[in-house]
Amino acid sequence: MKIDVLTIFPEYFDSIFEFGIIRRAKLAGIVAINVHDIREYATDKHRMVDDRPFGGGDGMVLKPEPIFAAIENLIGTSDRDAYPTGTQVVLLSPQGKPFKQATAQSFADLAKHIVLICGRYEGVDERVNDALVTDEISIGDYVLSGGEPAAVVVVDSIVRLLPNALGSETSAENDSFSDGLLDCPHYTRPAEFRGMAVPEVLLNGNHAEIEKWRREKALEKTRSNRNDLLTGENGDM
Ligand code: ADE
Repeated sequence: MKIDVLTIFPEYFDSIFEFGIIRRAKLAGIVAINVHDIREYATDKHRMVDDRPFGGGDGMVLKPEPIFAAIENLIGTSDRDAYPTGTQVVLLSPQGKPFKQATAQSFADLAKHIVLICGRYEGVDERVNDALVTDEISIGDYVLSGGEPAAVVVVDSIVRLLPNALGSETSAENDSFSDGLLDCPHYTRPAEFRGMAVPEVLLNGNHAEIEKWRREKALEKTRSNRNDLLTGENGDM
């Protein structure tokens, strides 16, 4: 998989993909991640990437020209209908569709080339969305100062699902959300720590009982922290 990130703060990503599973996946050739400065695609003499909003109001809006030029350079066309199969152009914004484990899984399964556009300021000129973007994505109902942290979240959650990215094939199967439930609690040594004992069932080697306990605890945890996952309601305040 090839991932390109478009940002006005390329330094933000300097070391963020250099750890753990993402680093290993890069070294193993499972994914190539490249970060591009939107300013490099600005052609005016001041290399302007943003401007005041038409209609007035606070803040600045990212201009369309450098982003169109970047997409033409990275994909070969700014005609969305002509993108090669498996090409996704993602705009990170609080107005996007909610990003879920199922979204990450579908990108991991289907996408070959993902271009992530990090929004900034008051927003991005809507013509970018109208003409270039295949998926407008939000990572949650809160406002970040830019799409950069969201891009990191999206990259991380997709790359770990790519074939052979995790050490063992079963690791992702047991993740929270993969079966609609949160993950169960985990324990390691020591068996007793500051008066707190590890649940006996985990020590007795009875795998059927352990599985049953894990399922019950996953349900309990889900009911307590994310009842919306069980009821289908979204838990809005
Ligand atoms: N940019 C600002 N807030 C965001 C959010 N919640 N998700 C994705 N991109 C964002």
